[in-house]
Amino acid sequence: MYKDLEGKVVVITGSSTGLGKAMAIRFAMEKAKVVVNYRSKEEEANSVLEEIKKAGGEAIAVKADVTVESEVVDLVQSAIQHFGKLDVMINNAGLENPVPSHEMTLKDWNRVIDTNLTGAFIGSREAIKYFVENNVKGNVINMSSVHEKIPWPLFVHYAASKGGIKLMTQTLAMEYAPKGIRVNNIGPGAINTPINAEKFADPVQRADVESMIPMGYIGKPEEIAAVAAWLASSESSYVTGITLFADGGMTLYPSFQAGRG
Ligand code: BGC
Repeated sequence: MYKDLEGKVVVITGSSTGLGKAMAIRFAMEKAKVVVNYRSKEEEANSVLEEIKKAGGEAIAVKADVTVESEVVDLVQSAIQHFGKLDVMINNAGLENPVPSHEMTLKDWNRVIDTNLTGAFIGSREAIKYFVENNVKGNVINMSSVHEKIPWPLFVHYAASKGGIKLMTQTLAMEYAPKGIRVNNIGPGAINTPINAEKFADPVQRADVESMIPMGYIGKPEEIAAVAAWLASSESSYVTGITLFADGGMTLYPSFQAGRG
């Protein structure tokens, strides 16, 4: 637990499910005030709120599609209006779907880029604008992936969005470091979330993915939420512009394990 997170206002995009949900619950456990954002599934967002309230935390749910600029502006504004300020913006909403690159339509491409990259840019921009105008040494955390580093056939849109996030984060980190605003990425590997549920329910596919992880297991959403809490806390006060990979070693060229090569 990080004492300084108590009372901090945290907006998490795409937090009605998956990694976003795990982070919402973790920040509530840290006694932060959480804005749970969802795009369409209000019931899921409400059940996250229930869980947070049961644990004695404070949260509201706000509907916004991160691909719609005005909705992201309103999302950040509702956090400020409801809780009086903003301290941490986590751009987590993301999509992925496999399509052979030569068959990928522009619609497929744009849907992923608009959500994963442009959505994270709008969220970052709105948070930073507030931090600059109000002299807040705020924190932006973007959800990247091991695929900001590892190429991923059938997911060219996804890999391009995460590669984009890497340099977007580094650029913003450099630009706003003099104001004490920190911007970092988390790079999860294979994590047990609904986005991967189908893949990991199949024992063959699961074992195949596990064989690509030196630590030998699929990560838990809580293991990503723990990284987010640390990056948002003052324990990481000198850290900016990084991607913190939490991937069980997936980015370490696992095919070289056991001295192969
Ligand atoms: C994706 C997962 C995938 C993992 C490792 C993540 O960014 O969301 O679906 O299993 O990368 O390839």
